[in-house]
Amino acid sequence: MSVLRLTAEEQALLDGAAGRGVQRAMEIVATLGRIYGAADLVPVSHAQISGVSYKNLGDAGVAFLREWADQGAHVCVPTTLNPMGMERGRWQAWGIRPEFAGPQLLLVEALVKMGVEPTLSCTPYLFPGYVPRRADALAWSESSAVAFANSVLGARSNREGGPSALAAAIVGRTARYGYHLDENRRADLIIEIKCPVRSVADFGALSYLAGKAAGNEVPWFEGLAEWLPSLPADLTLGGAAGDRLKTLGAGLAAYGAVALYHIAGYTPEARDLGPALLRPDARRLVIEDLDAAYRVMDADPDLRKIDLVPVGCPHASLSEIEQVAGYLKGKTLATRLWVTTGEITRRRAAQSGFVETIEAAGGEVVADTCAVVAPMQMLNVRSMATNAGKMACYAPMHSGVRMRFGDLERCLDAAISGEWDPGEPRSRLKPD
Ligand code: F3S
Repeated sequence: MSVLRLTAEEQALLDGAAGRGVQRAMEIVATLGRIYGAADLVPVSHAQISGVSYKNLGDAGVAFLREWADQGAHVCVPTTLNPMGMERGRWQAWGIRPEFAGPQLLLVEALVKMGVEPTLSCTPYLFPGYVPRRADALAWSESSAVAFANSVLGARSNREGGPSALAAAIVGRTARYGYHLDENRRADLIIEIKCPVRSVADFGALSYLAGKAAGNEVPWFEGLAEWLPSLPADLTLGGAAGDRLKTLGAGLAAYGAVALYHIAGYTPEARDLGPALLRPDARRLVIEDLDAAYRVMDADPDLRKIDLVPVGCPHASLSEIEQVAGYLKGKTLATRLWVTTGEITRRRAAQSGFVETIEAAGGEVVADTCAVVAPMQMLNVRSMATNAGKMACYAPMHSGVRMRFGDLERCLDAAISGEWDPGEPRSRLKPD
């Protein structure tokens, strides 16, 4: 352990000057700082807390948070919340039992009492007023959001745990180590792309290959920018580039432990610093095609009947919801479709008529939750089809479902017919 320098104010918080709740938060932040060899603490502009589903936290987690709230702890920077295990307005209609819903609501209530905003979404960067700026220090804990903030926005966050992000929000600081330091933002692994990467599903497949190879290193992609249109001026809209990068970061964090990646000529630090960002001993990996990833991620070829098609992992942007609405206009679904998103985005989608179109087809635009953190067995969902790399990785493990993986159109076709089409995916047959 190194010597962590605290200011007089920080030391006073650690000594309990602001009460036991704040003292507890400073103990967590300072202990992590000492473990990771931080020299000091850095003020954060925003915190984001994950791990808030009762499915994951259980009764011990609810008791821990309620006790902390009762000790008078309160966040001092804007703090948002990841999805919970159900939608606020529809859990009863879905058949979620009170023994799950009751403690889930108590858990969120404890966080709200501490001043956390119940955004209940893994994509805070899609909400007007929350998009971090370049070099902002953050304490975010949702791994997909950390990857987006670090890589696409050039902000700085470690992969905080839920309690450490909350502790940072309460004291307004986090330990300065890891991705807060320039040296740790350099790339260890050059990944040269020599194949088409055309869709969100393709970016998910790429995240499997790259995530497995990178582990917790920082990848540097070459030849990927040509598959990315420009980001929209208003990042909260998503857009084709935002949606692809959202899924890339989520998959890199799920299949590996990547919290930061660079894309040559595209992401902000790669544009500004160029090859100076590469470590001299960086390894090189060449990806010639994505077939191996599709074979692993779509590994249940006998599965035909689909109970649920979840779209929006990470939570859907306005542009993704528009795309789904456009495809489903005038059609009728044979099976369940969830387009999962944040309530803030759902309201914007409703204003544009997209929610009405999806619901007219028989789908649901679902806020506050997702098909990984909701109790899917309680909802009788045993099989899914997804175009999201992270969902393909997590839902079989966390929700006990069988899974098909492919392009969005193929997933929506499965929602329309109720079955996965065993033929070759159309988009992968298209010429370049
Ligand atoms: Fe978000 Fe759930 Fe995917 S929390 S990143 S939609 S697994």
